[in-house]
Amino acid sequence: MSVHALSLSSLLGFFLTISVLTHPSTSSTDSFVYGGCSQPKFTPGTPLESNVNSLLTSLVNSASLSNFNNFKISVPGSSQNDIVYGLFQCRGDLTNSDCRECVVRAVSQLGILCADASGGALQLEGCFVKYDNISFLGVEDKTVVLKKCGPSIGYDSDTLTRRDAVMDYLAAGGQVFRVGGSGKVQGMAQCVQDLSQSECQDCLTEAIQQLRSQCGSASWGDMFLGKCYARYSERGDFSKSDDGEDVDKTLAITVGLIAGVALIIVFLSFLRKLFETKGGK
Ligand SMILES: *[C@@H]1O[C@H](CO)[C@@H](O)[C@H](O)[C@H]1NC(C)=O
Repeated sequence: MSVHALSLSSLLGFFLTISVLTHPSTSSTDSFVYGGCSQPKFTPGTPLESNVNSLLTSLVNSASLSNFNNFKISVPGSSQNDIVYGLFQCRGDLTNSDCRECVVRAVSQLGILCADASGGALQLEGCFVKYDNISFLGVEDKTVVLKKCGPSIGYDSDTLTRRDAVMDYLAAGGQVFRVGGSGKVQGMAQCVQDLSQSECQDCLTEAIQQLRSQCGSASWGDMFLGKCYARYSERGDFSKSDDGEDVDKTLAITVGLIAGVALIIVFLSFLRKLFETKGGK
């Protein structure tokens, strides 16, 4: 009995180790960042539901043509109160097909997360989708939606200097999407394109300032406000180079192979122990 228990717990421990080792890299455009829904629910079969469905379809269709679009939907027969507003935006470096793929994913997740809700928002690594029956289009929103800071790197003046240089670069802005790096430190900033240029700059200034003050000496930081975000990382997450991705894939495959072989060994020794216990009786 004790042999069995030991083997089982070591197997369990092993599975945990594998899942930690093979934890997916956050650079995938499909990875979930945050999501939320508004409290009011619509009644199924009402014009509001038709408008929401029609809006989400419009977002998906539009995403293969551009990386941002917004809509105000009112299907025939629906009243002023049933109007639904919505938008999508992809990360500035995505191709149209990657953008569409991301928006399809976001809309389907939103349908599950915010089933029957009159409003919802979802941010994946590669795209942002939001809808509501309260108009929010063209409205600046600097509410902190998600703040995440990595572990502290302690006092490392070189990295901190580089981080500040990247933050300065992002803050200098003037564009809706910016990526920049210094050494290992990479940063990215983007605002939703329904904002004017000055609102965009204002939102980014706030996000970057928050990132600097909140994430202090963290190795990476994410600051998502209602209509813009700024992020930096030392992990190479924002690396678009094929080399970077290939290294990650090779590593994942190698880890997978080692894990597979190790699993077989553990399983065989488990079988052997099981056999010995039975044989010994
Ligand atoms: C949005 O929809 C909810 C649910 O039907 C409703 O209670 C609310 O009054 C609507 N808001 C507006 C601004 O129309």
